[in-house]
Amino acid sequence: MNTARLSLDPRRRVAPVSRRLFGSFVEHLGRCVYTGIYEPGHPTADADGFRRDVLALVRELGVTTVRYPGGNFVSSYRWEDGVGPVDRRPARLDLAWHSLETNAFGLDEFMRWLGQADLEPIMAVNLGTRGTAEAVDLLEYANHRGGSHLADQRRANGTDDPYGIRLWCLGNEMDGPWQVGQRSATEYGRLAAQTAKAMRRFDPELELVACGSSHLGMPTFGSWERDVLTEAYDDVDLISLHAYYQPVDDDLPSFLASGEDMDRYIDAVTAIADSVGAIRRSTKKIMIAFDEWNVWYQSATPSTPPSGDDWPVAPRLLEDHYSVADAVVVGGLLISLLRHSDRVTAACQAQLVNVIAPIMTEPGGSAWRQTIFHPFARTARHARGAVLDVLRDGSTTTTDRYGEVAAVDAVSTWDDDSGEISVFLVNRVTDTPAEVTVDVSGAHLTGIIECVTVGGTDLAAKNTADGPDHGAPRPNDTARQADAAVRLTLPPASWTMLRMRATEATP
Ligand code: AHR
Repeated sequence: MNTARLSLDPRRRVAPVSRRLFGSFVEHLGRCVYTGIYEPGHPTADADGFRRDVLALVRELGVTTVRYPGGNFVSSYRWEDGVGPVDRRPARLDLAWHSLETNAFGLDEFMRWLGQADLEPIMAVNLGTRGTAEAVDLLEYANHRGGSHLADQRRANGTDDPYGIRLWCLGNEMDGPWQVGQRSATEYGRLAAQTAKAMRRFDPELELVACGSSHLGMPTFGSWERDVLTEAYDDVDLISLHAYYQPVDDDLPSFLASGEDMDRYIDAVTAIADSVGAIRRSTKKIMIAFDEWNVWYQSATPSTPPSGDDWPVAPRLLEDHYSVADAVVVGGLLISLLRHSDRVTAACQAQLVNVIAPIMTEPGGSAWRQTIFHPFARTARHARGAVLDVLRDGSTTTTDRYGEVAAVDAVSTWDDDSGEISVFLVNRVTDTPAEVTVDVSGAHLTGIIECVTVGGTDLAAKNTADGPDHGAPRPNDTARQADAAVRLTLPPASWTMLRMRATEATP
């Protein structure tokens, strides 16, 4: 049996929980939009063609923000194609995913759909094939109240009030050779700075995200962030990080410790951003938008787009089916994101429906939860208030990829309003349970509300449209309170959420 001791104190806070950490991502890719969130003619579709069965699951998932419309798609997208009367919208070739984009769904539909789910948009502009002019046009269409050409177009298209979109991504993965319009760091940094300056002339309060590296393994990682921020430090607020995880050579122990990689990635980008700031003698801190993260079996088919003369509409792409082990990893990645709440203020699980997604649909058929739905939904619902600085002590485990790491990883939140302490834990060891002691000081522990676990058994199980809901949290009845501590046992390879009640923190 491994052991771990976690010490928390509601007076020792890292940062408020940013609700934007529980964001998601809708890209015009595969079936995320078409037959995902939007399917006119589906038995549950509303008058706008939005699938109500999907909307219900999106609400249950607890997503707070949604990034749109890409991803790689945005880098050759003309936003104007997607507004106005649908029968006059052009069909276009989508070069990113080798698909035919009908443009039946565009900005106005997206914003209406977001309104149904009460979510905040994160809008990406095309800095691949386009530039500053088209970005500010989009901003005028979306956010200006009226009296100008583009704002009046929006009004003529049926939306009187401006959308007030605050958070904008300046392009997507501009370092990637796969990106339409890939640029060098300095080129991109200048374009991002110039576009940001122009956008701020319209509204200085916008929050702007510059593209960081596409992932930690990019050959230009580090120098990319440094060079982009050297050009754009004063003009942007956040820098983006993207990371996708999958087991390599069936190495489950390393896969379960993927949060280690995310921790290191966030720490590295924070250090680089701060070093650029220090050189500039700036007091401003650049925050992090981890605006694409998930498990993604990139080696699996059909992850690659069609080719040749085949330009299908909404093909089945990147439709990964997730196992219980994947759900444990997703829970672990959320722990890493929460732990870094002082710097990571926005994050998007990629993506929302059908495309490497927690929600799946069948055209004309049902919508269902993947295993990874569950740790996300529980964390989004119960990580509230402030993130606490958890002191961790205990057994370690050695992984091939990350060396010696803590056997149990954990993060905790404290909600002043409800007096609830939530602890999210992952046992990364595949064959040994862990006995955990959670010590609470600075507040009077009055009871356990709930303790649930995902994983431990059936790690390879996956969900289907009508099969059992693997990954649904089950009660963990090992949790016992003893004075100011709770003891519980984590099964091997599992994710657990422990919720406790405490009286207000003493000053
Ligand atoms: O989320 C799938 C793709 O992954 C996105 O389009 C791109 O930004 C990333 O490479």
